[in-house]
Amino acid sequence: MNENRIEVLTSVHEGHISENLHGQFIEHLGTCVEGGIYVGENNDVEHLDGLRKAVVDALALLEPPVVRWPGGCYADTYHWRDGIGPKDQRPITYNATFGTNQLDTHQFGTHEFMDFCQLINAKAWMNVNMMTGSVKEMAEWAEYCNRHEDTTLSKERKQNGAPQAFDVLYWGIGNEAWAGGGCYTPESYANSYRQYSTGFPSFPVENSEGNILADRLNSQLIAVGPDGNKPKERINWTIDFFQALEKYRLPKIDGYDLHFYNWNMMKEAGEVTDFDETQWYRLFDGAMEVEEVIVEQYDLIQEYTPQVPVNPWISQAKVELIIGEWGNWHPLDEDKSALWQQNTVRDMISYALTLDIFHKHCDKVAMACLAQTVNVLGALILTEKDKIVLTPTYHLFMMYKNHRNAQKIRCQVNSPVLFEEKAQVYAIHSFASIKGNIMTLNVINTSYNEDLEVDLTVDQAVTYLTGKILTGDQPSDYNDFDMQAKVAPRQALAPIGGGKYWKLSVPKGSVTVYTFALQAKS
Ligand code: AHR
Repeated sequence: MNENRIEVLTSVHEGHISENLHGQFIEHLGTCVEGGIYVGENNDVEHLDGLRKAVVDALALLEPPVVRWPGGCYADTYHWRDGIGPKDQRPITYNATFGTNQLDTHQFGTHEFMDFCQLINAKAWMNVNMMTGSVKEMAEWAEYCNRHEDTTLSKERKQNGAPQAFDVLYWGIGNEAWAGGGCYTPESYANSYRQYSTGFPSFPVENSEGNILADRLNSQLIAVGPDGNKPKERINWTIDFFQALEKYRLPKIDGYDLHFYNWNMMKEAGEVTDFDETQWYRLFDGAMEVEEVIVEQYDLIQEYTPQVPVNPWISQAKVELIIGEWGNWHPLDEDKSALWQQNTVRDMISYALTLDIFHKHCDKVAMACLAQTVNVLGALILTEKDKIVLTPTYHLFMMYKNHRNAQKIRCQVNSPVLFEEKAQVYAIHSFASIKGNIMTLNVINTSYNEDLEVDLTVDQAVTYLTGKILTGDQPSDYNDFDMQAKVAPRQALAPIGGGKYWKLSVPKGSVTVYTFALQAKS
């Protein structure tokens, strides 16, 4: 019997896969925004009001469901007023975020971000400054963005070129409050969170029956979750934070934002483009640790969220687990801008494994944002002067689009374990979803050197439709400027078989996404 087998049960639906699991994160760090997404208006690079057109075009095709901005650590000292009004009158400050170390001219502010979101069809997640900012500053930013009625702030927004309210739904209250965001304790953060959450404006509106609805938007307030990389601290943070909230009246809290990086600062996984077989697997193993963190944190949230909202006008919904920053963090490439890193086949596979963990736990994780979209850490796009390159990870997100808003279906995999330290890396990992009568199945072959045959059984007859594969000739292949992409989707070898039984051929170090149509039952 083949040791690599996948069994898909199309009739067992296991939950809705929120599109928000494919979210993105952009920050004024290195050349993510300045120089990457935003090139300014006095530039030879083709742009749309200063936004680099090639980046906008690539992201418009991808349609990231949500983008988090302005940070990250940058948000901890960001004052939104610096980024509105005539561009030549905006203040100049200094941006020292993670070694960015450059003047900050604030040319990309609230309006530019909202234009960017609109062009790429993404929802906005704004992160408020809870360290050098204030409740008043947050409330005024929300007023400026979201108030429909003619207030002084909404009129100012209109004067600045946005007649329609932005209706920003997601608001992050602080960032990594346990470190750069203020070195809060869970208790002191909970106290501040109470004030920010309570001070967040509501946007009442009359519905068609003439009733005033408490909040037109029901803005989603996202609290700072723990450092996912600190096993003991993250448990304590979550318990202590929720226990502090439980002590007296519960403020509105909709999301809880955990950050998880696959850290390899000590080089156990080699360099970004230079690694051996063990280091190849170690990167996957490190990425997959996130599964344990998700299950642990989800359970803690269920156990410790206060059940009864004390303020009767607040309808306390479930507190959703969010992963607002995730990705690989390789040893730094000092030659380039801050936190710039290359992106190889190995990274792409580790991201496929991670996205599938999010998909698999779609009942537990509501939203996740890759850090960061352009030129920083696990970027989808790298830029250099007037050029851009789409990384293998960009193509992966494109190939995984089918899973967005689909139903997770039961997918059981049998495959040998190839590596085990923090998690278990199997030769074959797989995930399946269904939308209407189309089943999407992705198969990841993590093997460093073995092409594999996989037996696929489906609980009802299916017809093969399409197959795309993403891989490279070498495990360390990446896409570079001025050359044809080495790692881009290609036609996959068609599965052999029919009805309920198929044989798949998946080359070493690859991700393949197949679609099949369910055959009508007679
Ligand atoms: O994504 C880079 C940085 O990592 C962010 O600014 C911060 O929130 C995290 O520590």
